[in-house]
Amino acid sequence: MSIYLDSAIAAEAEVARQLGWVKGITTNPTLLSKTDLPVQTILKKLAELTTGPVFYQLMSSDLNGMVAEGRAAFEIIGQQTVLKIPASLVGFQAVASLSPEIPCAVTAIYSAAQAAVSQEAGATYAIAYVNRATRLLGDGVALVREMASVLTGSNTEILAASIKSPEEAAASLQAGAHHLTLPLGMLQSMTTHELSQKTIDEFAHNGRGI
Ligand code: E4P
Repeated sequence: MSIYLDSAIAAEAEVARQLGWVKGITTNPTLLSKTDLPVQTILKKLAELTTGPVFYQLMSSDLNGMVAEGRAAFEIIGQQTVLKIPASLVGFQAVASLSPEIPCAVTAIYSAAQAAVSQEAGATYAIAYVNRATRLLGDGVALVREMASVLTGSNTEILAASIKSPEEAAASLQAGAHHLTLPLGMLQSMTTHELSQKTIDEFAHNGRGI
């Protein structure tokens, strides 16, 4: 399992790096729009702030444009590149074209059928938008479970995204997600529990050490 930061802000990537257990960075066009830096500059910076994958989402809408944009992203990010490609007819064509040369993640998946095609097209990851699916379809964790069922024995791994609470993160993993991507605040929330703090305070008050 890997846990990634979901952000395009370099200062957040630096905080995540210092946590020591965050394994890579996912971005999307909306996250990239939150920084004024040129996209190439921010992608290079993010790649310096992690030794793991840096996910970049293609914006082109036609196959030739997607293939060219994916190769351009690889020129910027290098070996850490993972291309996020939206689940659509042309998106799956792009995954089939690009996945032999650059790892691909199919993003914005809302059905187990799309997960099945992700595998056939050669995607390394199938990204479930868990909380969005709960809001729009009723049960995002059930979507992860269905995706895990169709991907049993496959090399395509489920990355759970759009997660809004530690409980939703844990439920996604229990449902079969292999990886999580979380905003910085959520990464921090994953580490704490009010009873942990109470226990820590009790030891600090009563105990002694070296
Ligand atoms: C995943 O890669 C996406 O960037 C992200 O998790 C989407 O989350 P949202 O539903 O909060 O926009």
